[in-house]
Amino acid sequence: MQLVHTVSEMRARVAIWRHDYERIALVPTMGNLHAGHLALVEAAQKLAERVLVSVFVNPTQFGPNEDFDRYPRTLQADVTALEAAGADLVFAPDVDEMYPGGTESGTVVEVPGLSDILCGAARPGHFRGVTTVVARLFNMAQPDRAFFGEKDYQQLLVIRRMVRDLSIPVDVRGVDIVREADGLAMSSRNQYLSEPEREIAPQLYRRLAEVAAALRGGNRDYAGLEQAAMQHLAEAGFAPEYVAIRRAEDLAEPRHPRDALRVLGAARLGSARLIDNLAAEPA
Ligand code: PAJ
Repeated sequence: MQLVHTVSEMRARVAIWRHDYERIALVPTMGNLHAGHLALVEAAQKLAERVLVSVFVNPTQFGPNEDFDRYPRTLQADVTALEAAGADLVFAPDVDEMYPGGTESGTVVEVPGLSDILCGAARPGHFRGVTTVVARLFNMAQPDRAFFGEKDYQQLLVIRRMVRDLSIPVDVRGVDIVREADGLAMSSRNQYLSEPEREIAPQLYRRLAEVAAALRGGNRDYAGLEQAAMQHLAEAGFAPEYVAIRRAEDLAEPRHPRDALRVLGAARLGSARLIDNLAAEPA
């Protein structure tokens, strides 16, 4: 496995693979890798001959008061984990390499509407940063496929829509959420939790799972279920941002009783912002 820091080195490598008709999968990450990221690598290996993993803490997707500066950067350990997982190439550019036009004045890619609700409402500009960096990565590497976790369900849908709207020839695949034994979705941000907060944290998953079970049981009082879950989270010590029952397909409000649904939640706990979501098929 090779580690490269520049677009030209990365492209040179990818060009050799393409010349040999090998399918190329891209797994974009911000590093500090855990089993959730490695599940993406594993899924990628099943559907491509070559797996390229990008490691880049993308400044443009962090708000001014967010955790960009303290976001954990562990490239050495990430490279070791990716080598063991059998990845082929790691691309770890610096900010100038990723944003030759600057982070403030360069061209941006924006998916309107879907980027402005739920996490986008709480984090203005976040998804514009995500789509801009992912579009750049797609253009740099020109992969056949790209893998994203359902942990960031809204992100996955935003990227799918960008790919559709701009006819980007990349097959975007979603991968199941990897959880700790107690249900907490794995996340680099779980490290921000104190020990008592870590005890409380799995309740986000449990509350969303209760909502999903109620939906499966035929409960259609969406607003009531959302409010009850928010209240339970607040009582447990979270500062909940939202609990939302939405159409799985496009995160619109459910309209038809047979719509496939997704229950999504975001809540602050101490200095961490946690998100999670679950599928809920209609009864
Ligand atoms: P990051 O948070 O590092 O996540 C990289 C990928 O890993 C994302 O697709 C995310 O959904 C997936 N992932 C994280 N935790 C997961 C878990 N517990 N189970 C399954 N998949 C998980 O998401 C980003 O980085 C950035 O926004 C990025 C797409 C790289 C653009 O900068």
